[in-house]
Formats: sequence, C-alpha cells, structure tokens
Amino acid sequence: ASFKLLLLPGDGIGTEVMDEVTRLIEWANGTGAISIETETDLIGGCAYDEHGEAISEAAMQTAHAADAVMLGAVGGPKWDGVPYDKRPEAGLLRLRKDLQLFANLRPAICYPALAEASSLKRELVEGLDIMIVRELTGGVYFGEPKEITDLGNGQKRAVDTQVYETYEIERIAAVAFDLARKRGNLVHSAEKRNVMKTGVLWNEVVTKVHKDSYSDVKLEHILADNCAMQLVRAPKQFDVIVTDNLFGDVLSDEAAMATGSLGMLPSASLGAADENGMRPAMYEPVHGSAPDIAGQGKANPIATIASFAMCLRYSFDQGELADKIEAAIANVLDQGLRTGDIAQKGCKTVGTREMGDAIIAS
Ligand code: NAI
Ligand code: MG
Repeated sequence: ASFKLLLLPGDGIGTEVMDEVTRLIEWANGTGAISIETETDLIGGCAYDEHGEAISEAAMQTAHAADAVMLGAVGGPKWDGVPYDKRPEAGLLRLRKDLQLFANLRPAICYPALAEASSLKRELVEGLDIMIVRELTGGVYFGEPKEITDLGNGQKRAVDTQVYETYEIERIAAVAFDLARKRGNLVHSAEKRNVMKTGVLWNEVVTKVHKDSYSDVKLEHILADNCAMQLVRAPKQFDVIVTDNLFGDVLSDEAAMATGSLGMLPSASLGAADENGMRPAMYEPVHGSAPDIAGQGKANPIATIASFAMCLRYSFDQGELADKIEAAIANVLDQGLRTGDIAQKGCKTVGTREMGDAIIAS
C-alpha cells in the first residue's frame, strides 16, 4: 500500500526529532511492506518568518491531500511578540480545526526499564498500557456563552459553557470502542452524571453506541473524579478511557506522569472516517519545542518516533511495523541507553542521533 505523509517539523527540537522519523520512514519503505511518500513544509515560528503566517495556505492544502500529518513542535521565545492570531500555536490550532480532528489519543505506556522514573511505585506501573481518548473539539473550551462581565460593583462574572450534542459523543465513543477492539477490549467512559447534564447525556449516548454496535467490548462507566483517583491507585485496571475535552485534558496529563518523561509521550488526533475508513490524522509528540536544549542534539526523539508508530498503526494499517518500532524502543531502553531527560545511574547518556540509530538498528 502507498501513502502520502506530510512532515511538519516546526521549531526548536521539532526539526531534530523529525530527522529521526525521516530515517525510520526510509527503514519502513525498505521493508517492502509499505511505500510512504513524504512532503515537508513549515509550521509555527519558522512559517511566520517565511510567510507571515503560522501555516501557509499551500501547506494547509498539502495537509488536506495527505493521508496523515506528522508534526514536531512549534514555538519559542523568538516569537513571543508576534500578533496573537499569527503566533506559532495558531498553525497547530488551524490544522486541528480545518481537519476537524475531534479525537485526541494519548497513550500512557510505562516501559519496564523506566518504571523507576515514574511518579508511582514500580509495581503499580510496570507493564502499564492505557489509551486515553479525549474529545477535542467540543465541550467547555468552545461552548457559548463564554465571557467575563463587569458587574459594576468591583465584581465580575465569568462564564464558560459545557455543551455536547449527541453526534459529538457518538463519534468519540465509536473511536474508543474501535481502539479497544484492537487492544484489551475494555472501555471506561468517564463523566460526572451526578452533577452535570452533559454527563447524563454522555452516559446515555455511550451506553446506546455500545449496545447498538459494540456489545462485544466491555464497557464500564466511571465518575471522572473517581477515575482520577483510580489512575494513581491502580492504573493497570484501565485499557481505554473515553472522556470529554476538559476531563481528558486533566486525566491524560495525570496518566502521563505514570510513564516518566515528557520526551516519551506520543499522541494522535483523528477526524471522521470517509467511505474507505480513512480518517484525517495528525501525529505529534506531547512535548513542545524545548528552547532550553534546542540545537544541541540532546532531545529525546522517542515521543516523535512513537507517534510515527501510531501513524503506521492507525492511519496506514501497519500494526506489525508499529509493533517492531515499539519493541525496538523498549529494547534500547533495556540496553541502558538514555537521552538526558531520562538519564539514570548506570545507564549511558546519548544524543538524539545515537538514540535514533539504536532504535533503527534494534
Ligand atoms: P516543552 O515541552 O518544550 O519543554 C518542557 C521541558 O521539558 C524543557 O525543560 C525541555 O527541555 C524538556 N523537554 C521537552 N521535550 C523534550 C525532549 N523531547 N527531550 C528532552 N527534553 C525535553 O514545554 P515549554 O518549555 O513549556 O514550551 C517551550 C515552547 O514550546 C513554547 O514556545 C511553547 O509554546 C511551545 N509548546 C509547543 C507545543 C506543541 O508544539 N505542541 C506543546 C507545548 C509547548
Ligand atoms: Mg494539558
């Protein structure tokens, strides 16, 4: 099978970590299992410098035409003063909005070799493999009214509005159930139906989607606050967690801390499937452009490499290649190779390129 992939390395360490992905693409093409054709364009501060916009119209068109987009990171102190609608993050937000990427997938995987670096006890996190599915385009971040009113007596009133409609919950639930079928076949749906109407509807719609189309998958409903507690008490009870935009923001960061470093965390954002089952998709590390270490060849490329593995699995249907990459990551960590952010006593600290080399060789 042959696919088009748009590479947007971006700013800071984005370009350094994306170089390692470029080499992995050559490896993937070399296996003969797949043919990935790449195009590379600018996003973020570098695009602003070149075009006066955080992403050009031409790059947006390429993104629409591509089967998937891989992003490095955007931003840096150089662009602190640029107008708000042209700031580096505006390029990212434009992509999410125009491609309608409503499902944000954040895996929390604890590699055995890094269990010591977790903020939780080793026995709680060893072998941990959770997928948090966060609704990304609705909820309280976007609902109207959203305003601050001056009440005139030295007091103000701030309002955010949580809104969800049936179709938004149906489509995110379907993503979660589909994923669960390829994993541990268990979905926890987290909301607060005890105090929120959106929670009541969320619960109702997820229950119906489950009954109608996914009764082979095990479904558990959990209150979001209890879910937060269970994530630090016994995280291995979870497989897939599906939740709204706000709870998903918080719960995915919480789960991330079970895994060690920011430099290890991949993500995917998916849109609606077309008639062939292809979804618009963007894959990116969770971390930013790390200006403090940019240009020094020290960045950990694993988050971006693991994001590429997700791209192979979810957009290109190459689960086996994805498995190989993930096994290679675990393997080099077992061998004791570490970038600076995950440095450990008794292990060898290496740079971006050496880590990439080792993963490709493994
Ligand atoms: P950051 O994630 O860039 O860095 C936070 C800390 O983690 C730094 O000490 C950095 O050196 C370290 N770090 C991050 N990724 C690493 C990696 N792969 N290997 C080794 N160490 C790593 O977050 P920060 O400092 O808050 O933001 C820096 C810039 O990045 C800002 O301009 C911010 O707006 C932007 N940003 C962009 C994001 C994106 O492109 N999706 C996400 C978050 C921030
Ligand atoms: Mg967050």
